[in-house]
Amino acid sequence: MYVARAEWEEHYSDGKGFRRLGDKERRLLSEHVPAPGDGGRALEVGCGTGDLSVFLTSLGYGVDAVDYADSAIARARERHPDADRVRWICGDVERDDPVDLHPGGYDLVVLRLVVPFLTDRTSVLRGLGERLRPGGAVVVITPVAAHTPPERRGIALDEDEIRVLAGPWEQADRFDADQLAVLVLRGACPTGTGATAADRQRPGGR
Ligand SMILES: C[S@@+](CC[C@H](N)C(=O)[O-])C[C@H]1O[C@@H](n2cnc3c(N)ncnc32)[C@H](O)[C@@H]1O
Repeated sequence: MYVARAEWEEHYSDGKGFRRLGDKERRLLSEHVPAPGDGGRALEVGCGTGDLSVFLTSLGYGVDAVDYADSAIARARERHPDADRVRWICGDVERDDPVDLHPGGYDLVVLRLVVPFLTDRTSVLRGLGERLRPGGAVVVITPVAAHTPPERRGIALDEDEIRVLAGPWEQADRFDADQLAVLVLRGACPTGTGATAADRQRPGGR
């Protein structure tokens, strides 16, 4: 579903948000993607007002939180003034290549309520997969069409769309969090290094 960047800007400027992060989502994340250790690094794409990114710091991650709506990033900073383990980044993950992402890659990439709005899901997910460190996971949290009223169908994925999304990954586990699908995808990084080819060209890249 296409939503213009300006509409997201306005949504956050008007003080609105989205479905709050639920206990079941928190539990599933703690259980299935705990931080691997002190240096665990996560990326949240489309972070909105930042609650999930801050929750990830409680699991032990340092987090890069990206959203292309300035008003979302401004609200996230204001809402979480003490979140010193989150780096708030304003950027478009589909078009700013590369957004100022961590050159060493990520142990976890999370997209919550975002994937249905991406123009080219497959290529964004592939690009994010290339940024995974060995053993890392991409987690997609999304409404599903079966539980979404027809007039809001565009905010959700149907079973075919979920199958296509999960297809390239070696392991795709699916959980339910109060009618949101939580997909934990592993094993699609073609190089296994956790960094893109471009990163490896850069001084200090791995
Ligand atoms: C439905 S909101 C969900 C926000 C947040 N994840 C949550 O759960 O509350 C979708 C978010 O994705 C962001 N977004 C959509 N496309 C994006 C893109 N290409 N790059 C960065 N952010 C994007 C929007 O600005 C918006 O904040």
